[in-house]
Amino acid sequence: MNIHTYEKVWLIAALVLIVGFIVTITYGSVGLGIAMIDDSEDTIEPSELGDDERFADPRVEQVGENEYEAYVIARTFIYQPDLIEVPANSEVTFYVTSADVIHSFSVVGTNLNTMVIPGEVSTMTAEFDEPEEYGIICNEYCGTGHHDMEAQLHVVPEDEFDMTELSVEAPDEIELGDEAAFEVTIENGQLDDLETTIELEIGNETIEEAVTVAGDSSETTTIDVDTADLGEGDHDWTVTVDDYDESGTLTVAEDLDEGDDDE
Ligand code: CUA
Repeated sequence: MNIHTYEKVWLIAALVLIVGFIVTITYGSVGLGIAMIDDSEDTIEPSELGDDERFADPRVEQVGENEYEAYVIARTFIYQPDLIEVPANSEVTFYVTSADVIHSFSVVGTNLNTMVIPGEVSTMTAEFDEPEEYGIICNEYCGTGHHDMEAQLHVVPEDEFDMTELSVEAPDEIELGDEAAFEVTIENGQLDDLETTIELEIGNETIEEAVTVAGDSSETTTIDVDTADLGEGDHDWTVTVDDYDESGTLTVAEDLDEGDDDE
């Protein structure tokens, strides 16, 4: 059988095209790591996220030396948390679910983009090498506030990143001569131990106390202040731990019952 030269050229061109299409479709669906949300995982009840151990407290968690997990809830028309902070040089896995309707979780300027479907958990892992601030938007129309639905992802320099929380419990007023107890609780969300100093400034006094908070735990330190040294009156105080501070006022009175109007 004799095939005309032009016919042969067209046959080969058509074959090349067909093989090319198959290759690009295969690469697009497998090679880029794009995954569909499917039913292989257990579903989650959207109305009961408050009882779910992963989503009751939307947050960032450290799970390895440079590995973090972010648990995010999308709902009309917000993300919880609305600021996700992770350090540079980290690998972050996002778990995102919806409390109501279909949303999306799209990190602007990256290829991080997923639909967020009520009942399902969308999972994506990404590496962040450099500090940068990204916007997160919803690109599935979800209602009247859709265009306002946004959040922030901040990749901060490693040495500026911490997962420390400070809270202070102190009396508002106390009788002259008594000891005022300042209960300082430091929560360390990171896996490494946190070595730091509590600085309490009150009146003209500065009291410093070194503390070590073990990884993924919290530590309460009580600092007693002798009110005889402070004297009567209102005393402003500030407790400082690294970049965090809490402040208040302590009233020292000769006789507390005086002027006490609850009886
Ligand atoms: Cu949520 Cu659009």
